[in-house]
Formats: sequence, C-alpha cells, structure tokens
Amino acid sequence: MVKKDLDLFNEITQKLLDAEENNPVVTPVHPKTIFERFNLTLEDEPMDDKAFQENLEDIVLHTPRTASDHFFNQLFGGRNSKAMLGELLSVMLNSTMATYKIAGPQVGVEQAIIKKICEIIGYDPQTSSGTMAAGGSLTIFKAMLMARDNYDKNVSTKGVSMDMTVYTSKESHYSVPKNAAFMGIGRDNVRYVNTDDRGRMLPEHLDQLIQEDIANGKHPIYVNATCGTTVLSAVDPIDKIADVTDKYKNLWLHVDGAYLGPIIFSEKYKFLVKGIHRVDSFSINAHKMLNTPLSTSMIVTKHPECLYNTFSNDADYLYQTSSDEHNLGKISLQCGRRNDALKFWCLWKSVGTKGLAKIVDHEFYLADIARDYVNNNPDYKLYSFEDSIAVCFNYKDYDTKDLCTQLYRQGELMVGYGKFKEDEFIRLVMVNGGNSKEDILNFFKKLEEFANTKYKATEIVNSTHI
Ligand SMILES: Cc1ncc(COP(=O)(O)O)c(C=O)c1O
Repeated sequence: MVKKDLDLFNEITQKLLDAEENNPVVTPVHPKTIFERFNLTLEDEPMDDKAFQENLEDIVLHTPRTASDHFFNQLFGGRNSKAMLGELLSVMLNSTMATYKIAGPQVGVEQAIIKKICEIIGYDPQTSSGTMAAGGSLTIFKAMLMARDNYDKNVSTKGVSMDMTVYTSKESHYSVPKNAAFMGIGRDNVRYVNTDDRGRMLPEHLDQLIQEDIANGKHPIYVNATCGTTVLSAVDPIDKIADVTDKYKNLWLHVDGAYLGPIIFSEKYKFLVKGIHRVDSFSINAHKMLNTPLSTSMIVTKHPECLYNTFSNDADYLYQTSSDEHNLGKISLQCGRRNDALKFWCLWKSVGTKGLAKIVDHEFYLADIARDYVNNNPDYKLYSFEDSIAVCFNYKDYDTKDLCTQLYRQGELMVGYGKFKEDEFIRLVMVNGGNSKEDILNFFKKLEEFANTKYKATEIVNSTHI
C-alpha cells in the first residue's frame, strides 16, 4: 500500500516538475469558484483510485508554484533537494520530538543544529541552548515568553500582574504585537521605535521610550531587534541596541533573524550582526534564505534555565524514559512536535557551513544584479539599499498594487508590493538560492513586456476580486 502511494507520489511530482518548467506561474482560479472547479467536497462513499488520482493531480497542478524561478512573492522560495529528502524522510518516520523514546537520534540531529548555531554566533555552546518551533512568529513568541517569565517569576503560576512593556521597531514583523496580545501584555503595551532612513531601529529613541515608561511606572521586559525587516530586509544595529538594554535590569534583548538570520554563516555579510553574541536570544529560519521546506525555525538562548522554566511541564504519561536534556518536549511549545530538524541537517551536512555561506552570498549577488539593473535603467526608481536582499523599485509610473495583481491574475509573475514611510513599491526578494543571473534579468524582461503590452490601465485593483 505504501509502495503504491509512493509510486503515485513520484508520478504526480514528476508532472508538477514538468509543469513548473513549462509554466512557472499558475493562472489563479477565482476563490469563489473553487468548490465548483475542483472536486473538494468530502463524501460518505470512497472515490475510486482513478478518479482520486485525477482529482489530486488537478488540485496539485493548480496550486501556486512557490518553488519556481518566477516566484518572488514571499520571503521563501526555491527547493533545496537535500532538504526535501530530509523532510520526506521525516514524514516517513513520523517522530515526535517531545521524547527521546520516540525520536531517538533525531533528538541529536536537532541538538547538533542548535549547538552549531550557538557556536557560530559566539555563545558558549556549553552554557547555551535552544530549540525549534513552527515558524519565526513562534520562535519570537518563545523569546517573549522567556522574557516575561524571567522578569517576573510569578507569572507562570499567578498570571500577569505587572504593567509590562515591549519594544520593537516600526518596520518589524507583525507577530510582535500579536504575541504581546497572546501573552497577556496587550497590544497597547507594544512600543514602536522610530527607524532611520534605511528602516533600522534608532537606539536613542529606544532608550527614550524605555525611560518614559519607567518614569510612568511601567516594566520594560523585552526588546525585539530585527535582522532583516520584512519589507526592506534592513538589519537593526544590534551592538548599539545592546548598549541600551545593558543599562536596564532584566530587560531581554532578542534578535529576530527569521528573514536575514542566515547571514551569520557568511564571512562577507556577518558584519551586519555585529554584537549578536551579546543578545539574550536569537531566532533564525532556514525556510526563507536557505530554501528548506516550511517551516524550519530555531531559537537559541544564553539562558537554558529560562527555556526550561517557561516550557517544561510534568506529564507522567509522556515522559517515561531518558532525562529532561533529551526529552525536547520540556523546552517545546507543543506536545506532539514534528521533526523540523532533519531537513535542515541534511542540507547543512551535505554542503557544510561553507555551503550555507555560498547560498547566502549568492542571494546577495542576485540582489546586486537586480539593483544594478534598476539603477542603470531610467524607467526604474530604486527604494531599497545595498547590503540587502530586497530590491524595492517602481517601473515607470505604474500603480504597483495594480501591476503586481495583474501579473498574478494573468499568470505571468508572482511578486508583491511593499511600503516604507510614504513610498510604495514592488518588492523583489532574493530568497531562491537556485535562481541565476538570467532568472533575475528575465524577471525584468517579463515585467516590462507585460507592462507595455498586456497590462490594462483601467483594471484598477479591486481587493474583493482574487
Ligand atoms: C522579519 C520577520 N520576522 C518573522 C517572520 C515570521 O516568520 P514565519 O513566517 O516563519 O512565521 C517573518 C515572516 O516573513 C519576518 O519577515
């Protein structure tokens, strides 16, 4: 049975790969018609094998193609084959990382990754620790929870009683206020620090906000610095921010490296995270710049006791063998936790740390190609900066929302738009390490051809459409 479905998997995968080659962008199906267009409704009776296969193929082949060389819409892309191999094997093994009894050596796979990240950012691997969670929003959540519980040891038993505040830049990820709401601090207690003209947090403003809050009887507990802001991929000045947080007792400094965190591997770009060894915790995704499947997110901390105190709970029915050190459920958010480690380990082991650096450097190289193209062409205007993998630009005077939406609706290119201060622009992100210089130049060629021929100026974006 398994063999039969694995053969089917191979057959459908081959069709998908062929389709990606010939038709890298799927023409979208209107969301209001999906139940008519596809056979999705679940019924009492089974579907016969032939019809099942046809249906499944139909759905797969009409799903947006995020691994194609025409996909620039999100902060992930590409498909690293070694990472895919690890992911598929994780599915076959179906471990839970909660206990050593069930995960066995997979626990060591995760621990090896964590240990090496600690070492690379300059933590002492003997006195630091870390874990994985389902995505960058949740690794930030884990950092925020540790900060809260570390500040007030009574929170985990009595609940939040102090007026706590957290700090993040105006350009940071939306999960910070969302997490603040989840953890009983509240969105109104998130302070947004101003940024400079490149979207980087201003440490002086951070200090000012903290001082104002203390003067008003608040309790500052957490500062969120970003390594790779979502729109511009800017990196906050970590060293200078640490100078500020060091002045205050129990103020936790976290670096959210969900997007650009992999620059820690690059000799050329790690200067951007100067001071990273000083922070209390650091999170990093491999599913963005490093092309492992969604999701692969790690958090490391200098305070293993905080990780344990916040996330451990006794459960006799679960923890029946081995020590806490090897039962990763004691430092996890969830109970049954899928194995997100093997895919990243397969990639890392197969290319080495030097290979990870190559992927990072290549993506910066692709961004240089795109920036040069934009800078050397009078029809374009650049809104982003060097040492960034987001190339933000406008073409002629096209309405960016409308242009991006029409490119999508007509199945030409998948790219999104963004905003920084007053400017709105197309955001071209270089997160597919499998792309080449030709792929990037082809992006511009397609964009120009489309804008100058197929684009219909009258079709202003109507967000109620697709
Ligand atoms: C800066 C930043 N932090 C965190 C996240 C959240 O990561 P995830 O999508 O893995 O939850 C993102 C996602 O794009 C991001 O850009």
